[in-house]
Amino acid sequence: MSDRIRTLISEEEVNRRIDEVAAQINKDYAGRSLHLVCILKGSVFFTTELSKRLTIPVTMDFMSCSSYGSGTVSKGIVKLNKDLDEPIEGRDVLIIEDIIDSGNTLAYLMKLLSARKPASLSLCTLLDKPSRRVHHEVEVSYTCFTIDDLFVLGCGMDYDQRYRNLPYVGVLERDE
Ligand code: IMP
Ligand code: MG
Repeated sequence: MSDRIRTLISEEEVNRRIDEVAAQINKDYAGRSLHLVCILKGSVFFTTELSKRLTIPVTMDFMSCSSYGSGTVSKGIVKLNKDLDEPIEGRDVLIIEDIIDSGNTLAYLMKLLSARKPASLSLCTLLDKPSRRVHHEVEVSYTCFTIDDLFVLGCGMDYDQRYRNLPYVGVLERDE
C-alpha cells in the first residue's frame, strides 16, 4: 500500500491567499494590537505564515485540545490538553485554526474563551469545510479557502501525524 498525494491548493496559491487575508486583518485592526491564539498542532504553520505578514503589533499564545468521538460517530467531546499561558481579558483575540470541519472544536473554544472577557474574539481559518458543519453558530471572520468534503493534509494538517510539513494542501489517494 502506498500513499499518493494530489495537490488541491498549490504553495503559490496558499501564499497568495495568506497575503490577501493578512492585508485585510492589518486593515481591520489598524491602530490596535492583536493577540493570536494558535491551536496546536495543526495551525502552527498557518499562524507563522500569517503573523509574518501582519504589520500591526502582535502577541501570541498557544493552546491544544483534542476532539473525541466513539466509533465512527463523533460525539463532539472536546478535551483541553494545554491552556493559554496568559489571560486574555480586555484583549483583541484572533483564534487561528488550520481547518474547521464539524465546528465542535471551535464551538467549545469560543465558549471557553469568551467567558474570559476578551475585548473581541474572532476566528481565522486556513480551510473551511462548511458542508460538514454541525455547529452553525460558529462564525468565521477570515477564511482563506472553502473546500468540499475531502480529507486534506499539508500546511499543518496531518494524516496519522504525517504530512504536516507539506508546503501545499493535498488530498490523500490510497492504492490498496
Ligand atoms: P472539528 O472539531 O470537527 O471542526 O475538527 C477540527 C479539527 O479536526 C481540525 O482542527 C483538524 O485537526 C481535524 N481535521 C478536520 N478535517 C481534517 C482534514 O481534512 N485533514 C486533517 N485534519 C482534519
Ligand atoms: Mg486542528
